[in-house]
Parts: sequence; structure tokens; C-alpha cells
Amino acid sequence: MVSGLIALTACAGNDTPVNARSSGTTTTIAAPSCAKPATCTTRQLADAAGVLFGTAVSLQHLDEPDYQKTLLETFNSVTPENDLKWAAIHPKPGVWNFGPVDDLVAFAEKHHLAVKGHNLLWDQAPPSTSTTPKWVLAIKDPQRLRVVIRDHIATLMGRYRGKIDRWDVVNEPLETLGSAVQKNHFWRVLGNDYIAEVFRIAHAADPRAKLFINESTVEFMPAKAAALVALVKGLVARHVPINGVGIQAHLVSGTVDAARLEQLVGDLEALGVEVAITELDVPATAAVGPLQVQARTYAQALGACFVKRCREVTLWGFTDRYTWIDGAFKKGLAPLPFDVNYRPKPALDAIRQRLAAILPSN
Ligand code: GLA
Repeated sequence: MVSGLIALTACAGNDTPVNARSSGTTTTIAAPSCAKPATCTTRQLADAAGVLFGTAVSLQHLDEPDYQKTLLETFNSVTPENDLKWAAIHPKPGVWNFGPVDDLVAFAEKHHLAVKGHNLLWDQAPPSTSTTPKWVLAIKDPQRLRVVIRDHIATLMGRYRGKIDRWDVVNEPLETLGSAVQKNHFWRVLGNDYIAEVFRIAHAADPRAKLFINESTVEFMPAKAAALVALVKGLVARHVPINGVGIQAHLVSGTVDAARLEQLVGDLEALGVEVAITELDVPATAAVGPLQVQARTYAQALGACFVKRCREVTLWGFTDRYTWIDGAFKKGLAPLPFDVNYRPKPALDAIRQRLAAILPSN
């Protein structure tokens, strides 16, 4: 058995100092000796634990030295937060805005980060917060819509083949607060089987990529969780090329039912697919000891994943300076493990402990 110490030392060796790009200057990030968990960066712990530990990235912040330094010391995987969504990258027929994702992919290559593609298709039934552009919503002819979807997916998966290895193919196929399949534009035009169809299109575009369904609110809605399991079971039974399920885990209540989450991870894995936590954030809502409650919730969410085979956890950002929660709920809920000045919070320590607990020597 590989000892944790050997794994960590090897990991430190891989992580030689990197030259991080920052606006006009070069920042050198020193690799710590990493002889024991306490001296490792969080990224080194994740590497040694065999975990993809990721963050959503906003491209407009990537040139800020503190943003970039914290990202590189903490994560080994990145997901473009918004720049790969349909309206951002393909806003009009024939118009492609590849620049931001190209930049992120180049950054990831330079720093040996994995990249997850988010997302190929996402439409909620109205009122919609999804990002399917109006020109796509205007297509009512099924054959025409199929051609457009195929072109969208083949273009993106072709361009990033070998660089983006995991894709959220369909984001939020179920109703946000219900458990039926979302009666969205794709469902209305293509029919109930559109999800299977889109996975087949994605598989044809890049047969080596791992293809995911990514779903929200299943952490606290048992009926929706059961519906997700049933949906995936049906796809697997029909040999639809699906490799995994992402549980978003925006834990907006500030807590999580860890036993229920663990059960869901296990139920999905029993179908033969991978499970990932894909958009984790935890607003600090508790009246007493909010940062401690937040830290415990992060620990419980990671624990529910790691106790099963799940080895991929992505946070929806990492610094309270930049979080969608500020705009969507209220400001100051500080849902991430670094504060607005990039200082680590108790949540980071809780995450590190969870990673250290699954090092090979333990
Ligand atoms: C959903 C989407 C993400 C992001 C978040 C918060 O969970 O999957 O891309 O937009 O909402 O905004």
C-alpha cells in the first residue's frame, strides 16, 4: 500500500513552482515541502487523495494576482462559471465567442488543471433563468432544432476535445422545485426523449469525454432525488451513453442532511455511473457560530461523497468577494471557504481535514 507520506512527497514533486500569469507581472508560487498534510497546499492534498477538487471560475477575475494564486494553491480542476453557456459562447447563429473559454483552457493546460465543460444544454420552463438564447428558443421545427443542437455540441466538443474531459450535457433536466421532467423548449419541440438524444449527440462528438447530467435541489427534495435516480436508471437501461451525475449542492439553507445526501450518492453509483458534487456553496445563515456551522456543512457534504466512490467536488467559486449568492439571495451570506480578502475560513480547514482523511495511508 502506498503510504500517505510517499504519495504526498510525490505530489509535491509534481507540483514544482509555477509561474502564474498576473496582470503584466509574474508571480511565483512556491511549492511547499508537503512532507505531511499540514504543510501541503489544498491542491496537493486533493492530488494525493485522488480527488478532483474544483472551482467555478469567472474569467474576468483570473488576472487578479490573489484570485489566481488562491485558485492555483487550492484546486486541481476548473469549470467556467458562465462563459461556456449557450448564450455566452454562441449568442447568435454562426456567431461564436470562444475567447474566454480558450483562455481558461490555455491557463488550465499551463497549470495542469482539469477542465469541466458547463454546460451544453440548459433550459428551464418559464420563467427562465437558463441561458438558452432567444434565437434557439424561436426554433419550433424539430429537425431544424436537431441540426442546431448537433452543430452547437459538435463545435464545442470538437474544439475542446482532449482539453475538456467532462461535460454537463444537460443541466437541470427536472423541474427546480418539482420532480417531473422540465417542460422546457427542448422537451416541447423534440419530445420526452430529448435527453437521451442529446447524450447520443455528445457521445458522437467526443466518444472519450465523460458525459454528465447536472441537477439542482436534490440534496433536500427526496421526491426529486428519487426522480433523478429513476431518470438515470432509465437512461442506463437503454444504454444511453451517460457516465455521471452531478449533484449541484447549492446548500442555500446553510445545512445539509448528510445521511440523505450519502444515500443519493450511493443510489446513483449503484446504477453504474460516477457521482460528483458540482456547485457546492454554503451560505453562512446560522444565527450562532455561522462560520463553524458552515465549516461543518462543508465537511458533511464532502464526507457524504468520499464515504462512497464519489471523488469529484467542485465549489461554485472560492472567495466571498465573488459569489452569485450575493445577487440571487442577499449580500453578505459569505458562502465560500475564503473571505473577501482571500483569507481562509474555518470551512477551508474542514475541507482539508476531509481530504487528509482519505489519503492512501488512512
Ligand atoms: C445553476 C447553474 C449554474 C449557475 C448557478 C447559480 O446551478 O447550473 O451554472 O448559474 O445556477 O447561478
